[in-house]
Amino acid sequence: MFARNAALALAIATLAACNVAAAQTANQPPDTMAARVEACTPCHGNKGEGTSDVYFPRLAGKPAGYLYNQLLAFKNGRRKYPPMNYLLEFLTDPYLQQMADYFADQHPALPPVVASDASQEVLQRGQSLVTRGDPQRQIPACGSCHGPALTGMEPGIPGLLGLRPNYISAQLGAWRYGTRTAKAPDCMQQVAARLTEEDVTAVAAWLANHPAPVMNAPAPKGTYVLPFACGSEPE
Ligand code: HEC
Ligand code: HEC
Repeated sequence: MFARNAALALAIATLAACNVAAAQTANQPPDTMAARVEACTPCHGNKGEGTSDVYFPRLAGKPAGYLYNQLLAFKNGRRKYPPMNYLLEFLTDPYLQQMADYFADQHPALPPVVASDASQEVLQRGQSLVTRGDPQRQIPACGSCHGPALTGMEPGIPGLLGLRPNYISAQLGAWRYGTRTAKAPDCMQQVAARLTEEDVTAVAAWLANHPAPVMNAPAPKGTYVLPFACGSEPE
C-alpha cells in the first residue's frame, strides 16, 4: 500500500505543480502531451509500459477507443479506483481523448513473459477456455472477441497479452461483482458471470504466460464478427 500512496502523492504533487506553473505567465513549461501525462507516469510508466506494481496496468498500444472508454468509466464511476477517479474528475472529455490517443500511439517493448508457477493442468484449462471456450456452459472463446492472436480489435476491444495475472484476475472479479461495468450490452459482464474462481485463475495464468506475437497491434474494426453484441464495440 505504501508504494501506491507514494505514487499517488507524487501524481497529485505533479498536477499541483502544473497548476502553479500554468498560473505563472512567464516561464511556461513546454505544453507537450508527454508533460501533460506526467501525473500518470508514476503508476503507468513513462510510455505507458507499466511499472513493477502488478495491479498497475500497461496502457501503451491499446486501442485509443478502448482507453478513452476506460477514462470515461473512471470519471463517471463505472470503474472504481479512488486515485484515478479523483485525478480524472475535473478533466474534460476532449482532454481524456488526447491522453487516450497519446498512450495508444506509444509502442515500448512488451515485458518478457515470467514463467508461471501454475500447474500444467491449470494452464491447460486456461488455454482451453481462451481458445475454445466451454460451449456447455455457454462460455465463448475469449479469442472470439479478443482476436485469434489475442491482440484485440479497434475501436473498443483490448488485447489480452502483456498483462499480469493479478491484474487480469482483479478485472474479471470486478465484472463478476459489479464494480466494473461497461456500456450495455456489457458483454464482458456476461462472460465473467459464467466463470468460476478456478476458471479466472486458469485464464489469467495462461494469458500471462503466453508470449505476444511480434505484430501485436489491434486488428482493424470489423475484421471479425463477435459471438454476441458488446456496447463498447459498435457494429
Ligand atoms: C496512483 C496510481 C495511478 C495513477 C496516478 C494513474 N493511474 Fe491509471 N490506473 C491505475 C490502476 C491501479 C488501474 C487499474 C484500476 C482497476 O483496478 O480497475 C488504472 C487503470 C487505468 C486505465 C485502464 C487500463 C485498462 O487496460 O483498462 C487507464 C486508461 C488509465 N489508468 C489511465 C491513466 C491516466 C491517463 C492517468 C493520468 C491522468 C492515470 N491513469 C493515473 C493506477 C493509476
Ligand atoms: C463477446 C465478446 C467478448 C468475449 C467473448 C470476451 N471478451 Fe473480454 N472484453 C470484451 C470487451 C468489449 C472488452 C472491453 C470492455 C470495456 O470497454 O471495459 C473486454 C475487456 C476485457 C478485459 C479488460 C482488459 C483490461 O486491460 O482491463 C479482460 C481482462 C478480458 N476482457 C478478458 C476476457 C477473457 C479472459 C475472456 C474469455 C473467458 C473474454 N474476455 C471474453 C469483449 C469480450
